[in-house]
Amino acid sequence: MLGIETSCDETAVAIYDGERGLLAHRLYSQATMHAEYGGVVPELAARDHVGRLSGLVSETLSAANLVVDQLAGIAYTAGPGLIGALLVGGSFAAGLAATCGAKLLPVHHLEGHLLAPMLEARQPVFPFLALLVSGGHTLLARVDGVGRYAIIGETLDDAAGEAFDKTAKALGLPYPGGPELARLAATGNPSGKFRFSRPMTDRPGLDFSFSGLKTAVLTALPRAVTPQDRADLALAFEQAVTDTLAIKCQRALEQTGLKQLVVAGGVGANRRLRSLLQMAADQHGFALFFPRPEFCTDNAAMIAYAGWARLAEGGAANAGISARARWPLHTLTAPVNPS
Ligand code: KG4
Ligand code: ZN
Repeated sequence: MLGIETSCDETAVAIYDGERGLLAHRLYSQATMHAEYGGVVPELAARDHVGRLSGLVSETLSAANLVVDQLAGIAYTAGPGLIGALLVGGSFAAGLAATCGAKLLPVHHLEGHLLAPMLEARQPVFPFLALLVSGGHTLLARVDGVGRYAIIGETLDDAAGEAFDKTAKALGLPYPGGPELARLAATGNPSGKFRFSRPMTDRPGLDFSFSGLKTAVLTALPRAVTPQDRADLALAFEQAVTDTLAIKCQRALEQTGLKQLVVAGGVGANRRLRSLLQMAADQHGFALFFPRPEFCTDNAAMIAYAGWARLAEGGAANAGISARARWPLHTLTAPVNPS
């Protein structure tokens, strides 16, 4: 299964084989191109995908020692994401599938993230709890199988990654802000002068809200005078977000009785979140699964895997090009054998 990911500012291609696992993966990040604008410019993203895809597909095929006619299927991210960028990946995938006779599989980007831990040697088994924390989404889901996702908590406003990015911007850090803010926070002093509350942890429920926290950082910003103050502020913000995520995960595990937690999405690459959750797992006896950091952020390995898993379970291929900027995860259904 060839996977193609072009939902935002990463052009990525990967090949997954049911028996041999992941055979090759390649990724080109457009981050430096968008950096001067302080965020992703959709038109530029789409145009750059056009220029990169063909070369990346050839490179990935030769790294896997395959030729295009050996592909059984081509999976591509059909949404949610930037519509122009999605259309580039979908059109390319459809053209390639038509020339080599492979099946064409539209994949939901978040399903890719949720199933990404299946690319690792140590894998969770269904059912498990998943925390999905990316730039566009923050949710807790019960995962009962491929396409069987029940959302039990989500953000009421900003996504966790979005809060990282906006706070980083306010601190004057370059785009993409999340990893930059985490780097600055690593030099922060935990007993510095800033402390922010853990939003919505003082009341029952599994939903999140991060926009108030972002505002609290903006209000505190004038008090961050020295470089050390700025690092302390970044750390206080990171602590508030990651503590909140960890508290809600623990609560969700207790409420559902599930014993496995999967963390996926770009913020899953955050070191402090990883170590907090590892400590909770050791203390409370649940099993914790992370994709490797490069498969937490956007990549095509997760898209190839999700396409393969759907096809393996009898899911239908679809010859048309599908691209949906918005595509609620809860509308996905389990693969159904068409015969
Ligand atoms: O999953 P992803 O690559 O793209 C989306 O589908 O959104 O997630 C990107 C998000 C960005 O908001 C980025 O700032 C954040 O993940 N991120 C991080 C870290 N690495 C990436 N946030 C905090 N700490 C990190 N180390
Ligand atoms: Zn993503």
